Amino acid sequence: GGALLLPLERSVLAAGQNRMAESALPAPFTVPFTPPPVASKVRSEGITDYYSLTMREQATQILPGYQTRIWGYNGSFPGPTLDVQQGREVVVRQINSLPSTHPILGYTPTTSTHLHGSASLPQFDGYASDVTYPGSWKDYRYPNSQGSRTLWYHDHGVHHTASNVYMGLAGMYRMHDPLEQSLPIPQGYYDVPLIVTDAMFDATGQLLYDDNDQSGVFGDVILVNGRPWPVMKVERRKYRFRILNASVARSYRWQLDSGEPLVVIATDAGLMTAPQSVKSLLHGNAERYEVIIDFAKYAIGRRVTLRNLSPKNNVDYTNTNKVMAFDVVAKASSISHNSIPSVLNPYNHIMALTPTDTTPTRTMALVRQSGEWTINGQTWADVVASGYTRALANPALNAVEVWEIHNDSGGWHHPMHIHLVDFKVLDREFDRNGVRVPPRPPERGAKDVVYVGENERVRLITQFGPHRGRYMIHCHNLVHEDHDMMGQFTVGEGGYDPITTAPARPLP
Ligand code: C2O
Ligand code: CU
Repeated sequence: GGALLLPLERSVLAAGQNRMAESALPAPFTVPFTPPPVASKVRSEGITDYYSLTMREQATQILPGYQTRIWGYNGSFPGPTLDVQQGREVVVRQINSLPSTHPILGYTPTTSTHLHGSASLPQFDGYASDVTYPGSWKDYRYPNSQGSRTLWYHDHGVHHTASNVYMGLAGMYRMHDPLEQSLPIPQGYYDVPLIVTDAMFDATGQLLYDDNDQSGVFGDVILVNGRPWPVMKVERRKYRFRILNASVARSYRWQLDSGEPLVVIATDAGLMTAPQSVKSLLHGNAERYEVIIDFAKYAIGRRVTLRNLSPKNNVDYTNTNKVMAFDVVAKASSISHNSIPSVLNPYNHIMALTPTDTTPTRTMALVRQSGEWTINGQTWADVVASGYTRALANPALNAVEVWEIHNDSGGWHHPMHIHLVDFKVLDREFDRNGVRVPPRPPERGAKDVVYVGENERVRLITQFGPHRGRYMIHCHNLVHEDHDMMGQFTVGEGGYDPITTAPARPLP
C-alpha cells in the first residue's frame, strides 16, 4: 500500500550542472562567525513562557554578495535559539506562513514541529502526519521536566522533512537545570551553539536539492549557524560548544588541526557521568555533543581549525573537509567557569540501567527493499495505510527493554532516532562476528540517536515513558526517513491521539 503517498522529491541537479563554481564560493575562514539569534518570549504567565515562531520564506545572505531564498523560523536560517529553564513550561505557537508550493520541488509545505530530545506528549511531539497547512498554526506545549540538555526543533512534515529542513526549518533549544548551572564549566557567553549543515547553491545563490537516488542530499559548502566556513575570534580560555549535526545526510568526524583533544562533556540527553577526551569525534545526523576546547593552549595570534575527516557514504567536495576556524585574539576576560570536573552528572537513571535475563529484547532490522528503506520490512506509508494502527513494538508504560538495531543491509550507515525516550548504548557488534564491544567513549552518555554503521548491530537499553501513546522511530538521514525508513511504537494502552487531539487552526 501507500503508492499514492510516495514523495515528490527527485533529482533536480544533473551531474554538477548549474552548481555555483567553486571559485565563486567564499574562501574558507573568511566569513565572520555568529551565534544564531536568541528567541524572545511573547509573554509569561505563572510557570508558563509563551513563544511565537513564524515559518516563512525569506531572502537572506548566506554567501557574500548573494541573496538566498530560505524557509526559516521567524525567517532566520537557522532558527532562533530558545533558552529554557527546567520546570518552566513552554508553549510555542508555530505559524505556517510558507508559500503554497516548494520553489523547485512543487509540493505543499505542510509542517509538523518536533522538539528533538523532549519527552513530549504525543499530540505535541511533531508526529509526521499531524500536519499544519500553510495559512494555519498550532500551539506546542512542553513540560521541560527533563534534565539540562541540548535539544533542537525541526520540521517533521510527512515525506518532506528532508527538503523542509534543508530549506532552513531547524533551530536549537537549550534546557538548563540547577545541576548544570552549579558546575564550573563554561556558561553564558562561552556556551556557544554550532549548528552544522551542508548546502549546494546554483550560480545565482539559490539552494539546489539532489537526493542522489534517495541516498542523501550533500552540499559542497559547510555552514556553521548558516555561515560558510566561518572564522570565530576567541580568548585564551575554555569554550563549550554545543555541536548539532543538522545536516540532512552528511556525517562528520571532527578533529582539531593542532592535534589537541576535544573534551566531550554532554551527549544528546545531557551531561555525561564523566568527561571523555578524544582526538576525533564521529558525529552522525541529529546527534548533539557538547565539547570543550581549551584555547589557553595557544598563543595570541594562532589560528586553530576544526576539520572534518569524512566518514564513509558521504559525497565529498574540495572543501567539505573544512568546517570553521578559531582565531586566538585576546587573553581571557573572565576565568570563572573555566574548568571541567571529573564527575559531571552521576544521577542519570538511564545510565544506571543494565539488562537482566528477563529484560524483553526486540530487534529492529534495517533493510532496503524495492527501492525503499524499511524497518522490519515496514515503511511509514504502511503505517498511514493501516490507519496509524500498525506498530513495530508496544512496550508497556515504564517497561525497561533492550532494543537491538541490526544494519545487515550493507552499503549505508543509519543514525537511528527513537522519540520520547533517552537510552543507553550497551554495545556494538561489527560484521556479525559475535563479539560485542563497548560503545565509543563519546557515546557513553544518555542518547536519543545512535549511529549504526554498515553491518553493525547495536544494542541499547531504555525505559518507555513517561507518556502513553504513539511515537516514531526512524533513520535521521532525512532522505532515508522520507523514503520511508520510519515506523512507530505504542507505549502502554491508550494515550492521546497525536493527530486529532490538537488540530491546527486557520490563521486568525
Ligand atoms: Cu530529529 Cu523524529 O526527529
Ligand atoms: Cu538511514
